Amino acid sequence: MTRLSQCHNFHDFRSLAKSRLPSPIFHYIDGAADDEVSYQRNTKSFEECDLIPNVLAGVEDVDLSVEVMGQKLDLPIYCAPTALQRLFHHEGERAVAKAAARYGTMFGVSSLATVTVEEIAAITNTPKMFQFYFHKDRGLNDALLERAKAAKFDVLALTVDTITGGNRERDLRTGFTSPPRLSMSSLLSFATHPSWAWNFFTKEKFDMPHLSGHVSEGTNLAVSVGDYFSSMLDQSMNWNDAEKLCAQWGGQFALKGVMSVEDAKRAVDIGCTGIMVSNHGGRQLDGSRSPFDQLAEIVDAVGDQIDVICEGGIQRGTHVLKALSVGAKACSGGRMYLYALAGAGQAGVERALGNLRTELERDMKLMGVTELSQLNRDNIRFRNRGG
Ligand code: LAC
Repeated sequence: MTRLSQCHNFHDFRSLAKSRLPSPIFHYIDGAADDEVSYQRNTKSFEECDLIPNVLAGVEDVDLSVEVMGQKLDLPIYCAPTALQRLFHHEGERAVAKAAARYGTMFGVSSLATVTVEEIAAITNTPKMFQFYFHKDRGLNDALLERAKAAKFDVLALTVDTITGGNRERDLRTGFTSPPRLSMSSLLSFATHPSWAWNFFTKEKFDMPHLSGHVSEGTNLAVSVGDYFSSMLDQSMNWNDAEKLCAQWGGQFALKGVMSVEDAKRAVDIGCTGIMVSNHGGRQLDGSRSPFDQLAEIVDAVGDQIDVICEGGIQRGTHVLKALSVGAKACSGGRMYLYALAGAGQAGVERALGNLRTELERDMKLMGVTELSQLNRDNIRFRNRGG
């Protein structure tokens, strides 16, 4: 069985998570929409781009810091907001917050988080992002905004690519719901993962505290994430709503899940300070282009007016360097720390971030750069695009 000390890369953490988690929960993280083509493509697209290093550059001191949406980060990669973290490890969002703080980087907390924004704010002072899901219930929307504001979160990210639930066939097969539904097969998977089950059933009761005072779905009523999106989120959400939310927030504001140049330009027009080029880890519209493939045209259109973040598929330091060479200000990812969270809690996330930092330092030296701002398109070539 994989141990944390043997986790040297993304795949090692994935194996560790697979051994620790009941299978419906592992497949919820690991799965994506339809045929999972976009999910696979998100990483493969980095492999179709080659790095061109410079040498003899005097690289004994390298600086990995970046500034993105007004936040100074020690790493050019941060933990994207993801839902339901206490299902993966009993420390949940606390573990991710503390690990991100140790590495001086940002992390996101979801509307569908399992620990409150107030508690997260009390245990860490590293930059924090709150991921906003726009619900039909306007009272819930107002409460989410007020809580994130009062807890002094630094960035609000409105998710725009979950207007309806993606077709996650692995979840249909395993019957994954939040909270986990107790069926014969789920009980069997809990019984065969006793340490997970012990922690889940003996520690604090599972809750999604930002939602539970408003809606019972997801906390007292078991639903799949796809059904939650389809039934609870407001499908009439449009640019006016986003503009209004941006004004109500009154601070750093990003749209998470922008893929087209047209939408990127509109994000600038409504006052956003950032966009995450993302297909939600391939979990929503299968067949959508990978963020890395789509990055250049978005950077060319709006990169001088707004911070562009490349989100999804990142497994290596070199992937981050490629995205920054194209013009992203930073990268973010979910699975890149979630398997590590599931495998070993805070220590796992720290090891995942530490591995990435080591790779980034080494790879910058091998690229002949001491500052990330020195990276540019001269450093890369796309195999199938003739340059
Ligand atoms: C998901 C959501 C919750 O992709 O972000 O499952």
